[in-house]
Amino acid sequence: MLQTGFSDITLPVDGVLAILVPEDGPRPASYLAADRATGGALERAVAAASFVFGAGRTCMLLAPGGGFDRVLLVGLGKIAEIGARAVENAAAAAVTALGKLTTTARIAADGVAPELVAHVAQGATLAAFRFDSYHTRLTEDARWRLTDLTILTPDVALAEAASADLLAVARGVYLARDLVSEPANVLRPPEFATRIEALRDLGVEIEILDRDAMAELGFGALLGVAQASDAPPRTVLMRWNGAGDDSAPLAFVGKGVTFDSGGISIKPAGGMEEMKTDMAGAAAVVGLIAALAGRKARVNVVGAVGLVENMLAGNAQRPGDVVRTCSGQTVEVINTDAEGRLVLADVLWYVQDRFKPRLMVDLATLTGAIVVGLGHEYAGLFANDDALAGRLVAAGEETGELLWRMPLSDAYNEALRSDIADFKNVGGRPGGSITAAKFLEHFVNHVPWAHLDIAGTAWARKTVHCTPKGATGFGVRLLDRFVRENHEG
Ligand code: BES
Ligand code: MN
Ligand code: ZN
Repeated sequence: MLQTGFSDITLPVDGVLAILVPEDGPRPASYLAADRATGGALERAVAAASFVFGAGRTCMLLAPGGGFDRVLLVGLGKIAEIGARAVENAAAAAVTALGKLTTTARIAADGVAPELVAHVAQGATLAAFRFDSYHTRLTEDARWRLTDLTILTPDVALAEAASADLLAVARGVYLARDLVSEPANVLRPPEFATRIEALRDLGVEIEILDRDAMAELGFGALLGVAQASDAPPRTVLMRWNGAGDDSAPLAFVGKGVTFDSGGISIKPAGGMEEMKTDMAGAAAVVGLIAALAGRKARVNVVGAVGLVENMLAGNAQRPGDVVRTCSGQTVEVINTDAEGRLVLADVLWYVQDRFKPRLMVDLATLTGAIVVGLGHEYAGLFANDDALAGRLVAAGEETGELLWRMPLSDAYNEALRSDIADFKNVGGRPGGSITAAKFLEHFVNHVPWAHLDIAGTAWARKTVHCTPKGATGFGVRLLDRFVRENHEG
């Protein structure tokens, strides 16, 4: 992870310096000082480029004099609109511009309100994520180099105090992104479970259910998905008890299909490699628990992930098979590629039955249909509780991890009727994301519940602000904010 530190604003006049500058109002002192030190090079560059300090805009000066190698001007946008997000995004723009050019840099943040300076560290850290451990021969100019960033601010103590929690969340996001980025030959269910065990160091209690334990508990739906893989399934339960009492926990449940071939209802070859990301819901749950434990959140939470690999073999589940879920309800498996809901059916039921949570939120790369409906900008939100839905939407707007609420009316249940079992696992093409959510609802036993379909938001094709292209870690910041604002103290 990028090393960030804070230091007093006294201006260095060497190396690489980025300066965060609002679009309106007076120029920050650091800008004026650097302009003086360079004999007016900053003002000349701004005039020559007609540069406006709009949010996230950057202007690079090479060897501008005064001993600097580079000065990077970074726009913060209009003062009235500079909140935490704008600060994070500006820091991200700076890091994105400098990341391949230098190993160390300073960033002058006196143009930012002191209570927001910690967000420079978070935005910079999030934007500096790279997953390049499998590259053995990256050329010098293609390699990420930035490892140390010093943030210059007049109030170091304030920034340091505020950044501890924000960096704990960033570590959670990194963990989620690392897990999603791993190829499926490396991250199979037992390896995933092993990685989760590292959270014990943060004080998280971990319990791992293997195939026998799940069979004992009647996880017929999850085990049916897993049965053709020679990597055995796992369900992992994580408990963070930060409330200091035994109040009912919040529960977060993730779909962890480490690879989704579709099974016998096999997927087309084109793009199938993306199905290594079909565990992004589970990764977000793990990242969230790491974030909450890392910042010692005063709340009781349970995280639960169902980890399976959906494969084909002589013993694979067939279309038409009937499985018995942990709830006792039966399911006719019409399509083996609608496997996520089978995994979640057992884990959701088990979690509410065992932990009696105050609420449950599940995250899952559940349907291609949500990508058709909402693209890559919003995740789908389905909820049986309006207050819960409203709080999640609000947390999404505050963190930029956006949610759009979808309907969940009982009329959609019709599509799931089976002639042979309690439900079919698919409801046909119309409203495919909604019938998937309706299916899950039968396994939450009326607990206040929300389902986030993150199939369109777990993986980014291009870099946007604090999210480099690739695994996004979607859900970690959102749910950390949701917990902090509604369930701590
Ligand atoms: N993992 C997929 C959904 C998915 C699609 C995630 C694209 C990320 C990107 C899920 O298991 C799946 O295959 N869903 C099917 C459901 C269908 C068989 C009812 C789908 O969306 O096609
Ligand atoms: Mn599938
Ligand atoms: Zn899937």
